Amino acid sequence: MSDLKSKFLQVYQILKSELLNDPAFHWTDTSRQWVDRMLDYNVPGGKLNRGLSVLDSYKRLKDGKELTEDEIFLASALGWCIEWLQAYFLVLDDIMDNSHTRRGQPCWFRVPKVGMIAVNDGVILRNQIPRILKKHFRDKKYYVDLLDLFNEVEFQTASGQMIDLITTIEGEKDLSKYSLDLHRRIVQYKTAYYSFYLSVACALLMFGEKLEDHIDVKNILIDMGIYFQVQDDYLDCFGDPNYIGKIGTDIEDFKCSWLVVKALELCNDEQRKILYENYGKGDQSCVAKVKELYNILNLKGVYEKFEIQSYEKLIKSIEAHPSTAVQAVLKSFLEKIYQRKK
Ligand code: IPE
Ligand code: IPE
Ligand code: MN
Ligand code: MN
Repeated sequence: MSDLKSKFLQVYQILKSELLNDPAFHWTDTSRQWVDRMLDYNVPGGKLNRGLSVLDSYKRLKDGKELTEDEIFLASALGWCIEWLQAYFLVLDDIMDNSHTRRGQPCWFRVPKVGMIAVNDGVILRNQIPRILKKHFRDKKYYVDLLDLFNEVEFQTASGQMIDLITTIEGEKDLSKYSLDLHRRIVQYKTAYYSFYLSVACALLMFGEKLEDHIDVKNILIDMGIYFQVQDDYLDCFGDPNYIGKIGTDIEDFKCSWLVVKALELCNDEQRKILYENYGKGDQSCVAKVKELYNILNLKGVYEKFEIQSYEKLIKSIEAHPSTAVQAVLKSFLEKIYQRKK
């Protein structure tokens, strides 16, 4: 493990122990143990791409200059705030998507005695973010911008989740409403801002930059986020659940997934009928029929082409950026996800 990653992981322990001793609440052993277990279960177990990218981006913005211990701590704390945000979204997303597993274990709401307490745990996770920020950033010049950034991105994500969910009501009435444009709109909001833009924006703020001077960076990161969610849609159906740590539910949930949009684009009338009859049904034989159709339409091949094209397009826009440090930030993020299997 790299030195920076192990430092990043240490910061989790510090932040957790600060939160478990937050003087604004009168803790008991039971409440402290609950939050302790809830945090360990939901915050640190993912790939940590978002969190590590704050540290990694900040390092690249400094262009080779050594990071101080204080800078490592602060960039890590910001990274963890994004992982806290991720935990909050995922705990609630798994309830709404009726999912079974996440990161190789049962979804938090499926753990015995947790159930719908998970909803409030989501709220707790979300509320811990401004507490971390207040403790460590309140005296920074960029504190207000940081709070505003987290608020804006949370709003965008929640709005994306809303359209992801309410679109399925329209889809049930008429599947032909699902299009690439609609898919793009959903995933830009539900995924791209918080999964890609937020990490780099945090690093930029810490580096003393103004976010309004980096609209081009934001646009590239949004495209990267859309690409990432197409990968997520693909893996939902074709990934190995044991390896990705979650069992796909997009077909059962009537989701406007990239795969169903592509299938609608490529199918003949007969195949369209199969889709209409089997998409969005909980019955495993219906799911199997949809997957069979995806195979007949060679969606794996279509996806592989899409991956290469997206990568080349992104590299091209990154290389058009005037700053080589910013190019390095963006390329490093892209390399983390290109052809990912989890
Ligand atoms: C899952 O994100 C949610 C999406 C936005 C697709 P990740 O695939 O980054 O999940 P973890 O945090 O690594 O588990
Ligand atoms: C990801 O949504 C976006 C958020 C959780 C905010 P999905 O529902 O597509 O992600 P997974 O596949 O459950 O991780
Ligand atoms: Mn989900
Ligand atoms: Mn979802």
